Amino acid sequence: MSTNKIKHIGVFTSGGDSPGMNAALYAIAKSAEVNGIKVSGYRKGYEGLIDGDLVQLKSHELQKLTQKGGTMLKTARSRRFLELEGRKKALETLNANKIDALIAIGGDGTFKGLLAFSEICNIPFIGIPGTIDNDISGTDYTLGFDSAVNTAIENIDKIKDTAESHNRVFIVEVMGRDSGYIGIHSGLMVGADAILIPESGTDFMYLLDKVKNYDSEDAFLIVVSEGDEIGAELVSSKIKEVNPNVDLRITKLGHVQRGGNPSALDRMLGIRLGVAAVNALLQGRSNVMAGVLNNQLHFTSFEEVVKQHEVNKELKELLELFGK
Ligand code: F6P
Repeated sequence: MSTNKIKHIGVFTSGGDSPGMNAALYAIAKSAEVNGIKVSGYRKGYEGLIDGDLVQLKSHELQKLTQKGGTMLKTARSRRFLELEGRKKALETLNANKIDALIAIGGDGTFKGLLAFSEICNIPFIGIPGTIDNDISGTDYTLGFDSAVNTAIENIDKIKDTAESHNRVFIVEVMGRDSGYIGIHSGLMVGADAILIPESGTDFMYLLDKVKNYDSEDAFLIVVSEGDEIGAELVSSKIKEVNPNVDLRITKLGHVQRGGNPSALDRMLGIRLGVAAVNALLQGRSNVMAGVLNNQLHFTSFEEVVKQHEVNKELKELLELFGK
């Protein structure tokens, strides 16, 4: 489609919500308005696309939500969109709503959905990476990751206070699905005695060695990513085997990491990527995700984006130095 034909953009948030999504929606609405383009939002991700659950977005209404976590458009993990039947229904909805282009904010599942949808729908799609997991290729950071790490460290700092008072071993599980980004960042920043992430493999003998000789005169803090193969419970039982005297607790931080006001970095990322997505459509781009690499805007094809973005070599070296 030629760029000047874009009169009406549809936008939705999908998958797990993440702080910064509202800032991106505001930026999309603002930038589209300036270019004389109407923007409508589908509520509840792909579910709303299938059902035609549409609301018009106005930048002055979104402006005050920039500092708020979650997503004002709601979100969902749609099973129906995984089926061709659901995608055909979504195509009918887009045609009926006269949508010329689509912007989706979400994680890798969202981009896989767009790839499948592009087989039957030929309007341009632009993606914005929104997930606390930071597991997306083509961007240094995803919306919500920085806020989630800040929430994690704030909470682990508190756990450390009580752990130190009781000289306890604490295992804190953080989110991240199959990725260790939240684990390695939060673990390094709280000075954990050990950090276990999916990318570090199954070798945790070093940890057992450390705990075996642990003298109960201090706290011992282990940060483990939820996607780690061994997991909090098994680590706990192995520790008790090698040192039955330890006073051990497990805390799973859980969904608290997804909520809260977005950090400065996430608000700024939302604003930058929202504007970049609209500009990309105006420039005639299609089926790419807007991201930031080395602090420069960068566009990456959906095929590249869905490849797993693993913790890089430098971070793994930090893990070797501080987390073992
Ligand atoms: O992808 C974001 C995330 O918070 C993961 O870190 C976590 O594994 C998952 O979503 C939890 O999903 P749900 O909210 O559907 O339980």
